Amino acid sequence: MIIPVKIRVNRRTVETEVDENLSLLRFLRERLGLMGTKNGCEKGHCGSCTVLVNGAAKRACLLRMKTLSDAEVLTIEGLGGSREKPHFIQRAFIDEGAVQCGFCTPGMIMAAKALLDTNPDPDEASIREALKNNLCRCTGYTAIIRAVQRAARSLSEACPGAGAAAPNPSAGPAQESGAADASGAVGRDVVRKDAPGKVLGEPVYADDLSCPEALTGVLLLSEHAHARVLDIDLGEARSCPGVAAVLTLEDLPGRNGFGLFVPDQTVFAREEVYFRGEVLAAVYAESREQAEHARSRIRVRYEKLPVLADPEVNLKEGSPTVRRDLKNNIAHHVAVRKGDADAGFADAAVFVEGVYRTQAVEHAYLEPESALSRPGEDGSITVWTGSQSSHAYRALIAAALALPEEKVRVVLTACGGGFGGKEEPTVQIHAALGTLKTGRPVRITLTREESLRMSVKRHPMIIRQRHGFSRDGRILAMESLVTADAGAYLSQSMPVVFRSAVTAPGPYEVDAVRADSYGAYTHATPRGAFRGFGSTQACFASEIQMDKAARALGMDPVELRRINGFKAGSQTCTGQTLGDGTAFLPVLDAAAAGLAALRAEYAGFPRPSGVKIGFGIAGAYKNVGIGVGLDDGAGAAVELGENGRIRLLIGAADMGQGSDTAAAQIASEVLGIPYGLIDVTACDTGICPDGGMTTASRQTFVTGNAVKKAAGSFKAMMAPYLPAPGNPAAGTPDAAALASAWKRARDAGILPRAEEHYSPPATRAHEPVVDPRADKEESRRGIHYSYCFAAAAVAVEVDTGTGKIRVLKVRAVQDVGKAIHPANVRGQIEGAALMGVGFALSEEFLEDEDHCITDTLQKLGVTRIADGPIIEAVIVEDPQAAGPFGAKGMGEVGLNPVAPAISNAVFDAAGVRLQELPMKPERVLAALSGLSPGQ
Ligand code: FES
Ligand code: FES
Repeated sequence: MIIPVKIRVNRRTVETEVDENLSLLRFLRERLGLMGTKNGCEKGHCGSCTVLVNGAAKRACLLRMKTLSDAEVLTIEGLGGSREKPHFIQRAFIDEGAVQCGFCTPGMIMAAKALLDTNPDPDEASIREALKNNLCRCTGYTAIIRAVQRAARSLSEACPGAGAAAPNPSAGPAQESGAADASGAVGRDVVRKDAPGKVLGEPVYADDLSCPEALTGVLLLSEHAHARVLDIDLGEARSCPGVAAVLTLEDLPGRNGFGLFVPDQTVFAREEVYFRGEVLAAVYAESREQAEHARSRIRVRYEKLPVLADPEVNLKEGSPTVRRDLKNNIAHHVAVRKGDADAGFADAAVFVEGVYRTQAVEHAYLEPESALSRPGEDGSITVWTGSQSSHAYRALIAAALALPEEKVRVVLTACGGGFGGKEEPTVQIHAALGTLKTGRPVRITLTREESLRMSVKRHPMIIRQRHGFSRDGRILAMESLVTADAGAYLSQSMPVVFRSAVTAPGPYEVDAVRADSYGAYTHATPRGAFRGFGSTQACFASEIQMDKAARALGMDPVELRRINGFKAGSQTCTGQTLGDGTAFLPVLDAAAAGLAALRAEYAGFPRPSGVKIGFGIAGAYKNVGIGVGLDDGAGAAVELGENGRIRLLIGAADMGQGSDTAAAQIASEVLGIPYGLIDVTACDTGICPDGGMTTASRQTFVTGNAVKKAAGSFKAMMAPYLPAPGNPAAGTPDAAALASAWKRARDAGILPRAEEHYSPPATRAHEPVVDPRADKEESRRGIHYSYCFAAAAVAVEVDTGTGKIRVLKVRAVQDVGKAIHPANVRGQIEGAALMGVGFALSEEFLEDEDHCITDTLQKLGVTRIADGPIIEAVIVEDPQAAGPFGAKGMGEVGLNPVAPAISNAVFDAAGVRLQELPMKPERVLAALSGLSPGQ
């Protein structure tokens, strides 16, 4: 029913008519254009839509307009902050590094305001309680808690006794630190390039972009995990009001396939569907309601077929294939053979073995997938979306639409989290197709439920490992057999399965290794890239193996790791001799110090009966970059504008990790030009060089080096015109001096622009058989040009009555080569550590043949602030010469050691080995009662 409504929003009265069931969230975004209130779920599970209603924090998606008569609503836009003078809470979020992807940020800030309005001096528990409805997938919450504490401090200093309703006590603008200082942007916590816009709630994500004339697209997804599609009746849907087009496979002019390695996943299903997110049709209409209504009128007749869900069964010879086009269900097989494993085991005195199981996990980025496409006058199509690559998406869209690549432009917007899950397209091809067929702009934004059904997941793995040790603790041989569930299509199973094999021994030198990893197709949602990329699962197994071995040998677990740990000159299981930047032992030492500190802090603490405390440690390593002989380069361009500002053009997608900022810092450092005078344009295929995928922790290394190279060329070319850096007489270059340099260059006929491409040190393809006696110098050129290392020490409580595990504190240590922006680095470490806690204890994506069981954010088990442990991030800097200023990549590996460290701590506490993830209370209780499968 349409009702009149009178409501005050940001101190202005709005009188209008609305559907009584319209949510406040949609009213704010769609009727008032207030895009700072984000839509992460529309179910009350994420808190991204938090606003103040009559002074209290409320989730706008849960409120219907019919209940809001005369309500006073305050959104992030109403805080009164600006880029010049952010609100003091916004400023605190910037200063504490509490902004990464930024999708949760406006909701967090509004929840913090509600708290500080009533409690200007909250303790940590009060902050956790006040923000309990707000999810953050990036930060680990640690920086957010610090930000609220900082805001409270600034409030009490400026307005003693006042609440956050007091006038804005912010001391000044969010200065881009370094604006007046040309020296040393690298290594400093300058203001992130994206933070001011994100704390203000500016419309930076794809679904925020204004395009009133756009059609809304919705997708019809398969209802079954495996079925024959007998008939799709579109007749009624096509005649529904407002419908501009209903498209299926018949309407696709180009390749019906996408995928970064093999384009085997369908844009539209063919005669059979193989998982519950496969697209059958796309509807484009004038409004979302009309599109959804028309979609509901499409009639599909299916014949259900058997669902093949067990990867081990599917690998057996003679098993029916998951898809018609397959000869067997082996998605990928990788073998690693180093030395003589049989001889190694024959020489060993102590053996440990185990079977380990890890689960499917959803990335749970807070921004659901979204794309906006627009036609150009020249027959081109531009697509705006938040993803992990622009150029790869352009190629996939162009192939599907049978357009030349130059007719497709992809512009990346801010990305509300990716973690690997936005490497593959979801809605982008369908949005562009709608534009191609209708000639109209098209917007498609997935609901959370659709996102869960369509997007790739972390590979569940069954891992069998066996180690043989000498009495003095040397690993003489290890073997690993991995079966990974690849889901219905290949996505990135090849490299993920590969990593699970080549990282199976962990960061330890082992002369005899026999490892096989298989990816098996199943009728599950495709598995793809996810932070850690196969090394996470392998690490879970190998680090519990190390703990078991230490106990079997009667040795300190740290000492056992030290004996075997990688150092410069060690040889990996792929025969690569490690060089500079091999910092595992310093990382291990820092974690060991953390372990000792945790014991001192917690061991003697009184606990209720039945609650036991334990401590655990684990290490990890992972590659930086794609390696294995593949193209791994990136480009960058530096140009000076008439306005005296530098524009940096790069192809690195910033998903919130801060790559724009790091690139600007590197350029500033090389050019001797203040960081504040450098703007970054990233990932617009129309104007930016290709930087490849933001994956494999590679962008700091490759785009960082490309920026360094381009800035060096620019500086050399412009030397006659630029103020002399470091010359006290010349002073720090400012915009006026640079504008003058631009003019002098132009008068001399010089275009003030330099573009360079950087290729990292050459790598070689993986060779399955490695001779450990080979000349180590010969093997310096390996499958990867860089590795990063991490370790975690944890303290846990195990309630032996309920089976609940509580992680008290994590000391997370990571080697980053050189921290270009220490606060961002800490943020990555903290975020990865918390993701590791969720992976260990609670997160799981579940589906059966007809249902997505975990069909909401709530059910995924993502760790909330109330359950998050204290995380202490420790940065180890051991520069690698080839990295920009010694930096390496670091976004992933911090996640890896957390789950095994927790499992090891549980054993320390309760004497049971938990080898299956997640370690939910029922599994703990089963283990305690001796019912678990054992070791
Ligand atoms: S969008 Fe409202 S809680 Fe998620
Ligand atoms: S910064 Fe919180 S979800 Fe990304």
